[in-house]
Amino acid sequence: MARVYAGVNESLGSGWYDYERLHIDWNVPDRYEIVRRVGGGKYSEVFEGVDMTNEETIVIKVLKPISKKKIKREVKILRNLTGGPNVIRLLDVVQDGPSRSNSLIMEYVENVDWKEFYPTITEPETKHYLFQLLKALDFVHSRGIMHRDVKPANIMYDRPRGKLRLIDWGLAEFYHPDTKYHIRVGSRCYKGPELLTGYDKYDYSLDLWSVGCILAAMIFRKEHFFRGRDNEDQLLRILKVLGTDSFERYLEKHGLYIQTDNRALLQSSFGPASVSREALDLLEKCLKYDHCERLTAAEALAHPYFNNVRLETTSKSTERFSDSGFCST
Ligand SMILES: Nc1ncnc2c1ncn2[C@@H]1O[C@H](COP(=O)(O)OP(=O)(O)OP(=O)(O)O)[C@@H](O)[C@H]1O
Ligand SMILES: [Mg+2]
Repeated sequence: MARVYAGVNESLGSGWYDYERLHIDWNVPDRYEIVRRVGGGKYSEVFEGVDMTNEETIVIKVLKPISKKKIKREVKILRNLTGGPNVIRLLDVVQDGPSRSNSLIMEYVENVDWKEFYPTITEPETKHYLFQLLKALDFVHSRGIMHRDVKPANIMYDRPRGKLRLIDWGLAEFYHPDTKYHIRVGSRCYKGPELLTGYDKYDYSLDLWSVGCILAAMIFRKEHFFRGRDNEDQLLRILKVLGTDSFERYLEKHGLYIQTDNRALLQSSFGPASVSREALDLLEKCLKYDHCERLTAAEALAHPYFNNVRLETTSKSTERFSDSGFCST
């Protein structure tokens, strides 16, 4: 069971979490105009657009014909979370007449491509970025929701403004204790050990593994810190860095069986690098095989690695990161 926020959905009630009962009133899309394509993936095509009523730049996420249930889940979760710190805002939901395609209208972020940004990130930026990401995660977890697809491509970052937004709520899900979830979520390089060993009663702590992968990628300057060819290889890459001792304990504790050739694997080591003690300490506490042992988002925010970020946020309060009204403490 999750160490924190385990009973949140129970106490917020079914009106909060029962997305299947959601009835969506789709608006007409006439007021929005497409400017250019900015992305897309398995489930959508994403465009930059303009809201002609106020000239504001917005994002139009055109959903591919996926199940109604999945659409309801994404809309419900976005509605529940909109306005929260560093969470992308849902502005409108629209449906095209003839094609009946459904689109989500969202806040636009002048994003820098993470593949260009990460290799040049500075230490203060790394701290700021991760702190903002963790703030979003602590908020969404406190509302009973796991993101389940935290990865660089799902984090929009306006570098000059230091503005971060967590996007792509298509795989997010409500957390209920003792519930089995699909392990086919997330993106390979950011998948936690629970997904790779078949432990399906996971919780919010899954997102903290992905945060660890991002921190590692930044401080060790690797595009993806654990880069497996497939899910099996992904687990091996993790074992090579973190060692097998605590992995065996983890398997035993949760009654999991996995065949691995342990002898060839090294013991826990992140290898040589000039990385601060605090950064390494935070990293080790996020990258725990056993999800119960990982830091929670709130604990990570309180880690000494972020000491000066916390000071800065308090003193600057509303200056630099005021756009959302939630970003400053
Ligand atoms: N609010 C936004 N501002 C700027 N760009 C955005 C925004 N939302 C999405 N994008 C761009 O569109 C891409 C796809 O968006 P999103 O991740 O929501 O869709 P998806 O179909 O679920 O993606 P995938 O299957 O690749 O995970 C993002 O990686 C990003 O490049
Ligand atoms: Mg995405």
